[in-house]
Amino acid sequence: MKYLIETWGCQMNDHDSEKLAGLLAKEGFEAAAGVGDADVVILNTCSIREKAVNKVYSELGRLREEKLRRPLLVGVTGCLAQQEKEGLFRRAPQIDFVMGTMAIQQLPRLVEEARAGRTRVIDTGEYPDNHLFPPETALRHSTAKALVTIIEGCNHACTYCVVPTTRGPERHRPWKDVVAEVRDLVEMGYREVELLGQNVNSYMGGCTFAQLLDRVAEVDGLEWIRFTTSHPMNFTRELARTLVTNPKVAPFLHLPVQSGSDAVLRRMRREYTIDQYLERLGYLEAGRDRLCLSTDFIVGFPGETEADFEATMALLERVRYDASFSFIYSPRPGTPALRLQDDLPAQEKSDRLARLQARQVELTLASNRRMVGRTVPARVESRGAVEGGHWLARTGEWKNVHLAAGEGRRLPFGELVNVRITDAGPHFLKAEIA
Ligand code: SAH
Ligand code: SF4
Ligand code: F3S
Repeated sequence: MKYLIETWGCQMNDHDSEKLAGLLAKEGFEAAAGVGDADVVILNTCSIREKAVNKVYSELGRLREEKLRRPLLVGVTGCLAQQEKEGLFRRAPQIDFVMGTMAIQQLPRLVEEARAGRTRVIDTGEYPDNHLFPPETALRHSTAKALVTIIEGCNHACTYCVVPTTRGPERHRPWKDVVAEVRDLVEMGYREVELLGQNVNSYMGGCTFAQLLDRVAEVDGLEWIRFTTSHPMNFTRELARTLVTNPKVAPFLHLPVQSGSDAVLRRMRREYTIDQYLERLGYLEAGRDRLCLSTDFIVGFPGETEADFEATMALLERVRYDASFSFIYSPRPGTPALRLQDDLPAQEKSDRLARLQARQVELTLASNRRMVGRTVPARVESRGAVEGGHWLARTGEWKNVHLAAGEGRRLPFGELVNVRITDAGPHFLKAEIA
């Protein structure tokens, strides 16, 4: 039996797919090269915005065609599965099994039942020990950085967001388990980990998040720790200090703000004002200058006026984010924001998004240009030269590097090399070995 897992969404979902792969490998399944030679295809889905959901349904359409030609099992897991539950079978009868985000350890059983000929196999139960998934079971992609879950779920209640429904309330992994997993990963050869949670910095697995970072940093041989995502209201002075002073914590912070307008933030139920957000950023003090800072924006939230949007643009200028990810508000089933009147024309929303993104490109370019001439460590992230002849690498600030290795020279995958930045564009830095 061969399996294929297709993944949409965030790093949590990427890592869940690694867990699913590990569960199937344990049962003797092998990875398929593509849909064509797979006996079971699993769609590990995201439902954060409508676009993500549309991609899943179009892939389901393709798989229906494939199923007409030959035997094939189709499973849907992830956030869309948790949200829609049985409804998925009605909308897409070609689905054989559905599994929610909190039931992933049930995968072998569900596949077995579907193989035995049962139809509409489903488990979207809330297994409270899901966050205790045996870490050695995950079958990681061969990337230079290893993903490590520290929290599942989210206890915030932003009015536009499906995550509290699709991932449930917060469950925290005990810090000793996290440290033990990182130690094992370093033994396997990883030099960098990314700690994951919808709200990593609300961590309460027996210590604070800042303490967890310090404890993970003590693992010998580990070079960089990253983490995502942080909520501004859980961003403490203690965490800012650790981020700035612990040399193993990569100099990068993603702190989603969503909007620059207090009125919009209130309707989003983000639990902070812009002054409070800026105060939190202030905790970084002079350390701010060594960090790269990124954020998320939602544009065109119900009731967003031109003045609200100008406040977002003003925030962009004030903070001068090194990068940002921005999206047009997408109404999601079951969320409180559906009740807000949303009468802004679609064209106006996309114009605003384009303005914001155009300015961000300039800010990112300026941020990248500031690195030109510097020599910094970067991790080699490709196993050879890619199209264009350069190698891929990544700096601690999370900047992509196109690295000229020199004729015939091979670079060590996953290791840090010192590179001299020679040029910068908005999307990557050019560099040579220092
Ligand atoms: N837990 C993280 C965010 C996870 S979702 C946090 O609170 O920061 C990632 C991003 O998707 C969010 O930051 C937000 O910008 C965006 N997003 C979430 N729901 C959305 C929606 N309904 N429409 C548009 N963007 C959305
Ligand atoms: Fe969603 Fe808000 Fe939780 Fe982030 S903090 S996952 S945006 S509810
Ligand atoms: Fe998407 Fe679920 Fe992640 S909705 S962004 S896959 S938590």
